Amino acid sequence: MKAIVYRGPYSVSVEEVPDPRIETPLDAVVRITTTNICGSDLHMYEGRTGVEEGTVLGHENMGIVEAVGTGVERITVGDRVSVPFNIACGTCRNCESGWWSFCLRTNPNEGVDGAAYGYAMMGPYAGGQAEYLRVPYADVNLLELPPGDEHELDFTMLSDIFPTGYHGTELAGVGPGDTVAVFGAGPVGLMAAHSAFIRGARRVFCVDKEPDRLKLAESIGAEAVDISDGDVVERIIDATDGAGVDKGVEAVGYQAHDHHGTEHPELVLDNLVQVVRTAGAIGVVGVYVPEDPGAADEGAKQGRIGWDYGTFFMKGQRMGTGQAPVKRYNRALRDLIIAGRAKPSFIVSHELGLDEAVDAYDKFDKRCDGYTKVLLHPSA
Ligand SMILES: NC(=O)c1ccc[n+]([C@@H]2O[C@H](COP(=O)([O-])OP(=O)(O)OC[C@H]3O[C@@H](n4cnc5c(N)ncnc54)[C@H](O)[C@@H]3O)[C@@H](O)[C@H]2O)c1
Ligand SMILES: [Zn+2]
Ligand SMILES: [Zn+2]
Repeated sequence: MKAIVYRGPYSVSVEEVPDPRIETPLDAVVRITTTNICGSDLHMYEGRTGVEEGTVLGHENMGIVEAVGTGVERITVGDRVSVPFNIACGTCRNCESGWWSFCLRTNPNEGVDGAAYGYAMMGPYAGGQAEYLRVPYADVNLLELPPGDEHELDFTMLSDIFPTGYHGTELAGVGPGDTVAVFGAGPVGLMAAHSAFIRGARRVFCVDKEPDRLKLAESIGAEAVDISDGDVVERIIDATDGAGVDKGVEAVGYQAHDHHGTEHPELVLDNLVQVVRTAGAIGVVGVYVPEDPGAADEGAKQGRIGWDYGTFFMKGQRMGTGQAPVKRYNRALRDLIIAGRAKPSFIVSHELGLDEAVDAYDKFDKRCDGYTKVLLHPSA
């Protein structure tokens, strides 16, 4: 089959690789109808992770079940499914308590709990930017979708970024009447803003520097704050009559930069501590890593990021972090889509075939105007 393979920093290629097959009785093989490029893929693309050359990328997958193992009971061939990016066993202590993103069984890497498709450190699982994908523990992991192709562009957000954005608002405890600041108006930040409104937020500020992304934020009723226009903290504090916002979501990650493009991994955490009110809360879904050989300073190379923990403590704030447990939310978010109450597809900018992915990685990585969310249709 054809797949997108990581070949080193700033290099991916479309290659012929062996078809995945059923390896255990609990597996399924899914024919991919839509798979997305994610901001998380860019950390690998830019050579800022330890991902191995030759890895098939792609953790945002959906499609039609092509084959199932003899032990799969709930899912049948022909089902239309969303594949959460987390690979969970369903029965370990963390899975049983809803932390599907920290499964104790599926990642053989020493010291890392939680697995994913086509991702650095997340286990030996090929990604789905390909024609087919092997899904372990299929009954546990796959979410059924209504048959046909309705809502394809909305449902494709269920594998990662819609639940991830939602998780940011859950970690921050966003509730009715809240004011919320979302840092990063990339796909994850935009999904967090969408989720904040779904949860009843009164006002949502979206902070970024890409005008096209800020425009999308405004299209759903958020207030855009461009970091190129001066002190972000001051502007949000002023806009809330000096109070600050109730809740904050971090949707940028360790490659946070100023408006000149210089990286400061502590910048957004510091901004959040300042704009969130005393006793407020912050959900961090932007990725931070324990090792970043490409970091500018010695501490950050080892995951030691010098953010303002002192003020965070003084203000009595709370913070939640980590990979999103997609399965905790994807069923409810699917049903909101079906009911017409959620429409995450508003961020889709491109729909391409696999052959066009090499160029799309380059343009998405450069945040070229209009490259917000790229969907690949492998069979197109
Ligand atoms: N926790 C999870 O489960 C999970 C899942 C998916 C993605 N992620 C992570 O979420 C983050 C965002 O993902 P994405 O797909 O939206 O990525 P993206 O790279 O497309 O978006 C990040 C945005 O942050 C903006 N940004 C950079 N510096 C900023 C600053 N100082 N202030 C405000 N905005 C700034 C960029 O301009 C960009 O638009 C990434 O780190 C990604 O790895 C986490
Ligand atoms: Zn993703
Ligand atoms: Zn588990």
